[in-house]
Amino acid sequence: MFKADTLEGRVAFITGGASGIGMEIAEMYGRLGATVMLASRNQERLDAAVSIMAGQGIKVAATRTDVRDYDDVKSAIDKTVKQFGALDILVNNAAGNFHCPTAELSPNGWRTVIDIDLNGTFYGCHAAYEHLKRSSFGGSIISIITMLGVSGWPGAAHAAAAKSGILALSRTLAVEWGEDNIRVNTISPGPIGDTEGVRRMYQETGREELERKKTALGHLGRKADIANAAVYLASDLASYVTGENMVVDGGRWLKYVAA
Ligand code: NAP
Ligand code: COA
Repeated sequence: MFKADTLEGRVAFITGGASGIGMEIAEMYGRLGATVMLASRNQERLDAAVSIMAGQGIKVAATRTDVRDYDDVKSAIDKTVKQFGALDILVNNAAGNFHCPTAELSPNGWRTVIDIDLNGTFYGCHAAYEHLKRSSFGGSIISIITMLGVSGWPGAAHAAAAKSGILALSRTLAVEWGEDNIRVNTISPGPIGDTEGVRRMYQETGREELERKKTALGHLGRKADIANAAVYLASDLASYVTGENMVVDGGRWLKYVAA
C-alpha cells in the first residue's frame, strides 16, 4: 500500500483517463493526492468519470481532446497548467486497436492506430516538455505499451508497430531529457480483465482462455496492477528510474519465450 500522500501536490495529465486502465490510474493518483486532468474524445464519458472521481473527493477535471491533433493536445496541456499551476506527470494511455490480419488492413486503418498511439504519445511528450522541465518534483512521463510491440503481434501489426515506436521514443527521451530532471518510462501490461482491450482483442476473437494460459500466473491481471506500477513510476520511490519498461504481465512475456 502506498502512503496517502505519495503523490500529494502533483498535477497529472492522463490521456484516455475516463475509461479502463487510464481511469484506474487517474483514480489511484487522485486518491494518493494528485490533481488529475482527463483527456479523451467522448464528452459523456469524461463527464461521467469526473462525476465519479469528484464524488470520491478527488481533484479532477476533464478536457475533450483528440490526441491525433497536436494543437488540440498542446492547448489541453497548456489549459491544465493554467488551471492547476503546473504539470508534473504525463500518462500517455490513449490508444486505438482492433484485430485485423495485415493483408486486410487498409492504409487508413494502419494510419489511424499509428496516429492515436505513436503520434499521440509524441504530441503529448512534446507539448508537455517545457512544463515538465519546470516541475518542482521533477517531471515524469509514463506511456502504456505492450511486450507484443517487442515480440510482434499477429492480427495487430498497427498496434505492435506503434507500441514499439513508443518504446524507442521513450528510451530516446529518457536520455535527451534526463538532465532536465524528466524521467521517461513505459509500462507493458499483460491481458488485463474488465477492459476494452481484452474485450476486443481476446474475447471477441475467442482467445481469452488461450491468453490466460499464456501467463505464468494463470490469470488475467487487474487494472489496479497497472495503476500500482504507474504510481510507483510517477513517485519519488522511482526517482532514479528512467528509460525503464516495467513489464506487468503475470509472466506472459517470459513464458512466451521460455515455454
Ligand atoms: P480503453 O478503455 O478503450 O482505453 C483507451 C482510451 O483511449 C479510451 O479512454 C479512449 O477514449 C481513449 N482514446 C482513443 N482514441 C483517442 C484519441 N484519438 N484521442 C484521445 N483519446 C483517445 O482500453 P484499455 O484496455 O483500458 O487500454 C488502455 C491502454 O492500455 C492502451 O494504451 C492499451 O494499448 C494498453 N494496454 C491494454 C491492455 C489490456 O489488457 N487492456 C494490455 C496492454 C496494453 P475516447 O474513445 O473517449 O477518446
Ligand atoms: N477491422 C478492420 N479495419 C478497421 C476496423 C476493424 N475492426 N475498425 C476500424 N477499421 C478501419 C476503418 O475501416 C477505417 O479505414 P478505411 O477508411 O480504410 O475504411 C480506419 O480503420 C479508421 O476507422 P474509423 O472508424 O474511421 O476510426 P475512428 O477514428 O472513428 O476510431 C478506432 C478509431 C478504429 C481505433 C476505434 O476502434 C476507436 O476509437 N478505438 C478506441 C478504443 C480502443 O481501441 N480501445 C482498445 C485499446 S487497446
